[in-house]
Amino acid sequence: VSALPAGYAIRPIEKSDRQGVLDVLAVLTTVGDIPQESWDDRFDYISSHADTYTILCITDETGKVCATGSLIVERKFIRNCGLVGHIEDIAVAKEQQGKKLGLRMIQALDSIAETAGCYKSILDCSESNQGFYEKCGFKLAGVEMAHYY
Ligand code: ACO
Repeated sequence: VSALPAGYAIRPIEKSDRQGVLDVLAVLTTVGDIPQESWDDRFDYISSHADTYTILCITDETGKVCATGSLIVERKFIRNCGLVGHIEDIAVAKEQQGKKLGLRMIQALDSIAETAGCYKSILDCSESNQGFYEKCGFKLAGVEMAHYY
């Protein structure tokens, strides 16, 4: 397992992390305006489904959120009612990239998925991130498709 820089820590997000997590997610895509009430509602839903959702963050030595990532555990009928981990919304703050925080985040989510009994974890990414996920131990498997509404 990759070590974090001194003073950095990895932990589940907390309700008070709203600004920190949303700021980091902005490096990934459009976040939108998320009022406190919307954050609180979504946070409460996620917290009350802890066997399905895990959202982690990495904080720096000042406690600032500098990376985040999610795991969703899907319950299937196939593979003897198997479980599949979906890794989503991996983001490392621009100035914190290249310090192995992304790698550490994937390792943490992967290990939670394995412990939960998932037979695999999968994710979608752009071609420009393929090399990163290969370094994290993932292999190209299939084609990502999307239907936006
Ligand atoms: N292509 C190829 N290799 C890469 C890339 C890349 N885009 N990014 C990092 N690597 C390599 C690093 O060089 C390092 O290799 P090394 O072990 O040989 O030194 C290894 O992968 C681990 O890199 P980290 O330092 O852990 O990467 P970082 O902390 O910068 O996180 C990430 C990578 C998550 C892609 C980050 O750059 C980021 O947040 N980008 C913007 C948002 C984004 O694209 N997120 C992923 C979306 S896909 C999804 O969420 C499922």
